[in-house]
Amino acid sequence: MTKKAISILIFTIMSFSNLSASDGEVIRLVEPQKTGGMPLLEALDNRQSMRSYSQEALSDQDLSNLLWAAFGVNREDGRRTAPTARNWLQFDIYVIMADGWYRYDAEKHALIRGGTEDLREFAGTQDFAREAPVNLIFVSDHDRMRGADREKRDFNSATDVGFISQNVYLFCASEGLATVVRGMVDREKLHEVLQLRPAQHVILGQSVGYPAQ
Ligand SMILES: Cc1cc2nc3c(=O)[nH]c(=O)nc-3n(C[C@H](O)[C@H](O)[C@H](O)COP(=O)(O)O)c2cc1C
Repeated sequence: MTKKAISILIFTIMSFSNLSASDGEVIRLVEPQKTGGMPLLEALDNRQSMRSYSQEALSDQDLSNLLWAAFGVNREDGRRTAPTARNWLQFDIYVIMADGWYRYDAEKHALIRGGTEDLREFAGTQDFAREAPVNLIFVSDHDRMRGADREKRDFNSATDVGFISQNVYLFCASEGLATVVRGMVDREKLHEVLQLRPAQHVILGQSVGYPAQ
């Protein structure tokens, strides 16, 4: 078979299947709002887990603000809104929405599209997770934790994810959004559908949306 015939065959298979290779399209998020919001002590007073969501998609501004609050760049040297041990920055946030799945690129403040498939059914093992308009999947890349043995990599994955998750909780409390962090995820399945490398580990999920009325 010629090269051209192979390309046509692959294109045809992709067009007729629900699968797409990681397409890598860069989708710039709107500028995040870094001022305002609820006073911190009030946000702490409001922080809670909520498990009922409206199916309405998040506005562009809310999605941008959410991701920046979670783990965006907040200093010129590239450091983030959440700390990581030895500044390893080992976490990537994958974003599962109805129209596709993405990786948050904090430096570009952009979403890098992985594919256009609706992966919400894999976002969590509880029904509400499948209904939330946004599911964040916190993925730790062990390759970035240089010099640490396996035990330390696991430890720092487990500790550092908490800061990111709490940023999401406090942002949601401030903005009147509903959220819950979730350990109940099928890590193996998510690893497969998000096309992760062996060194990447799914740690937790977190659902976000407007509260159900
Ligand atoms: C590491 C971790 C994993 C959790 N996993 C789940 C989960 O899989 N599903 C769920 O509904 N809630 C989960 N939660 C939320 C807790 O159930 C919740 O935080 C707890 O009941 C206290 O409620 P609050 O967050 O409103 O204070 C998890 C919380 C943490 C910290």
